[in-house]
Parts: sequence; C-alpha cells; structure tokens
Amino acid sequence: MVIYAPKNSEAAYGLSEKLGIELVSIKPDDDMLYLKSDDTGLSLNQGGLELRGDFSKLLPRLKKNNLDREFLIKASKTKNKNPVAIDATAGMGEDSLLLASAGYRVIMYEYDAVIAELLKDAMRRAREIDELSEIVGRMELINADSIQGMKMLDFTPDLILLDPMFPERQKSALVKKKFQLLQKLEMPCTNQDELLSAAISLKPHKILIKRPLKGEYLAGKKPSYSIRGKAVRYDCIVIS
Ligand SMILES: C[S@@+](CC[C@H](N)C(=O)[O-])C[C@H]1O[C@@H](n2cnc3c(N)ncnc32)[C@H](O)[C@@H]1O
Repeated sequence: MVIYAPKNSEAAYGLSEKLGIELVSIKPDDDMLYLKSDDTGLSLNQGGLELRGDFSKLLPRLKKNNLDREFLIKASKTKNKNPVAIDATAGMGEDSLLLASAGYRVIMYEYDAVIAELLKDAMRRAREIDELSEIVGRMELINADSIQGMKMLDFTPDLILLDPMFPERQKSALVKKKFQLLQKLEMPCTNQDELLSAAISLKPHKILIKRPLKGEYLAGKKPSYSIRGKAVRYDCIVIS
C-alpha cells in the first residue's frame, strides 16, 4: 500500500511517517489498494472505488423517530442518564455514532492503524457539521487492541459492543462493493474467546454482539436473549 497525495502536504507527510507507508505524488495503478490524502481528507481506493467515512450520510438514521427504530438502540436502552459504552471493534464507527446519538459516551477501539486513520478523518469532518459536532464530541477513538485495552480500564462501562469480522462475512454478496475495500484490511477474528472474556471481566451491565442473522454465537456462548433485525442479530449477554 502507498499514500497518494496529489499535492504535497504536511498532513500526508505526517501520516506517511506515522504509518510507515510510502508517500507518492503519482496516481497508483488502478488495481492497487492505496490511501489518498487531499484537501477533502483521507480515503481508501482501488479499481475506481473510493471508501471514505462520511457520518453526514447517517443523519437521517439519527433523527429521533428513526434512531429509536434501530435494533442497536433498542438493544442498548438504559436508564442511566450518562451511560458509557465501549465499542471494542470500531471499524468505521457507524455503530458508535448511533450509540453516541442515543446519549452514550463511546470509547472506541480499532487496532488497524489505517482503518483508525480513516475513522479519525471521518470524525474530524463530522465535527464541522452542526448536527454532528456534539454527537461526535462524545466519541473517543483509541488505536489499540481492545483485548489489551479493556484489561487496563479502571471503570465499569454500561455497555460493550462487539462486532468482530467473522470468516463467513468476507464472502457476503450483501456487503457493498466499496466496503469490500475495507475488508481487505480487516482480519477475521481468531481470538473470539479472549475478546469475550476481556469484555466479561469488565462486568458491564450488558454485552451486545452483532452477528449475521444465522451466524454462530461468539465464542460459542449462548446469550441471555437475541434481538433479530432483517439482516443482523444482536446477541445480548446481561451481566448485572
Ligand atoms: C466488522 S468491523 C466493525 C464495524 C463497526 N461496527 C461499524 O459500525 O462500522 C470490525 C472492526 O473491528 C476491528 N477489530 C477486530 N478485533 C479488534 C480488537 N480486538 N481490537 C480492536 N479492533 C478490533 C477490525 O479491525 C475491524 O475494523
């Protein structure tokens, strides 16, 4: 992978240094997976497809009536006035954005450095949008493995969301083409037991596990109950 910056910029240079990825000023071949850094921000590109985190596209889903119909929000209802959630597998942060819209302060862990930079860039642009700035202000990104990160936390979150990529999801024809670019970076989850144990040891009120409708349980653990949507299922493990 390279970082393509059509114009020399401090930001692109800094990113190249930080990620240890070569910076180029000539557009890479179409079949190559590359990051593009320009005045508009950061995107992941290949074969004419471009993936850029864009929270403004989620604005219709954040309207109160629509938000309340989201299965994630139904599954994460809480009486706590200042609830805190851990999103242990942040990806592009869309689920975190929904939780933050519902009032949660969300601590997001993403271990892939490139995905974390794409998410950081999406958050930066969202902070400039009036309807999103306060919501994104409740989101904090940590570029680290959540299994280690959760072991170091010294408080009890209300909710932990787990949405690791399972091997079968890689093949899904339902995944939009540009999201398939992201899946080239994502590693299938090989340590389900450790991820679930790290979450359980924090003793949150509830752990939510996002799964394909017919997917197996994470680490084979039967949840307290499940909420089924059209395409996804939330397995809820109630701890306290
Ligand atoms: C399926 S995506 C999550 C999508 C996310 N729920 C959203 O709404 O955009 C899974 C992400 O979790 C990350 N991930 C998986 N295991 C992780 C771990 N132990 N620590 C931090 N990130 C992890 C992967 O790199 C990937 O980006």
